[in-house]
Amino acid sequence: MVVGLQWGDEGKGKIVDVLSENFDIITRFQGGSNAGHTVIIGDAVFKFRLMPTGALRGKKVVIGNGVVVDPFVLLQELESLRSAGFNIDLLVSDRAHFITPYHIQIDQLQENAKGNQKIGTTKRGIGPTYADKISRIGVRASDLLTSLDNPQWKILAETSTSRIQELHHEKIEDSTLKSLDAYSETMKQIAPFVGDTSEYLNSAIDAGKRILFEGAQGTLLDIDHGSYPFVTSSNCVSAAASTGTGVAPTKLDSVLGITKAYMTRVGAGPFPTELQDATGEALQARGGEFGTVTGRPRRCGWLDLVALKYAVRLNGAKYLAVTKIDVLTGLNPLKVCVGYEIEGTELKTIPASSVEYSKAIPIYEELSGWSELPKVSDSDAYSSIPTTMLDFLKKIESWTSSKVAIISQGPDRADTILVPDVLPDISIDV
Ligand code: GDP
Ligand code: IMO
Ligand code: MG
Repeated sequence: MVVGLQWGDEGKGKIVDVLSENFDIITRFQGGSNAGHTVIIGDAVFKFRLMPTGALRGKKVVIGNGVVVDPFVLLQELESLRSAGFNIDLLVSDRAHFITPYHIQIDQLQENAKGNQKIGTTKRGIGPTYADKISRIGVRASDLLTSLDNPQWKILAETSTSRIQELHHEKIEDSTLKSLDAYSETMKQIAPFVGDTSEYLNSAIDAGKRILFEGAQGTLLDIDHGSYPFVTSSNCVSAAASTGTGVAPTKLDSVLGITKAYMTRVGAGPFPTELQDATGEALQARGGEFGTVTGRPRRCGWLDLVALKYAVRLNGAKYLAVTKIDVLTGLNPLKVCVGYEIEGTELKTIPASSVEYSKAIPIYEELSGWSELPKVSDSDAYSSIPTTMLDFLKKIESWTSSKVAIISQGPDRADTILVPDVLPDISIDV
């Protein structure tokens, strides 16, 4: 399983792509089209929002019941991958909740109503769709395919209309109504891909197939464990792979957590190590830190080992992939956060309250930087890693008690180093 250990955009898409050859099936289990996973292969750039990244390797791709699905986005991704020559073998859970144009309008209205308390959502309808799921008024693939006239759909339409009118004093936008017209047509095209994914995945496990669970967002955006309320509306930690696919926890295997060599965050919320200076700007420029979905600039800062340790604990991440290590090249000294000071008290973990957390002043330790990257074309690239980079990685390992298994030093598939003898039964295909 691959999960993000920060506020998203850790490079999950790239790492899943590199690992996919070792697996038969790649499945998403939470989130929706708020995700943006970029994979770069030579000159070709692929951006995924819903489709599991394994689609590029011709693998069976599954969208589990824990995902909220925007059928327009799904169809558009299907079509663009097909027109790029990929043969897509997709299965979407009949129990997955579907995002409707109402949800998108409500997401936008809720954000606007918050004034300066905005979360900075991706405005893709994620929160309202999960809210309706929990309130038991949502619509699932199976409801939609039965008929768009069924009672569940009617309840949703009525509730959404009154919420938009009474709570926000707005009328349903023309664009919402227009897309509702197109909705049933789109559902018809998605229908052949809908089925019982839990049954499928469990049978595949029984038949000895290997499944890679692809996380979206990141642990610090998790609805329970993240910096609430500045979070997304799903559980993003590894445990969600089980509820989000219907594969029991006893059948899940190792967890690989992805962390950048520094931190980024899109949207609002506490970020103790944020750098609002030239170093922050340098990280943003070198790392190309602009949102895949919204194009918003990502806030940047030093690696936070307190937050990383917290995320590793929540996910049980025995293995780590450290990405974007190239972005730190030439910076000297490097800083890593090893504690917080909140109103005179030192803290070694993340407080529950975001009000408290936003007062955290990072306590830093300095490490020496490196000026060159190892040559990934060398068959033994790992042994040519500069000692200062090794020290940086060892610092991460000693803080988290996890093993660094993959080092990523560029966006391309090829810019990847597999640390020898760490991940059992895994090779990387670049
Ligand atoms: P995800 O949401 O976790 O899949 O991450 P995104 O794809 O949204 O953001 C990561 C960005 O960094 C993408 O543009 C990747 O192409 C790029 N990327 C991934 N790994 C590396 C790396 O090691 N170095 C650099 N410079 N870029 C990387
Ligand atoms: P990937 O999978 C980074 C952030 C949004 C906002 C908050 C809530 O690419 O790592 P939402 O639309 O989910 O209700 O927004 O969560 N967010 C992400 N930030 N990467 C993502 O996904 C994100 N998905 C949501 O910016 O702060
Ligand atoms: Mg992303």
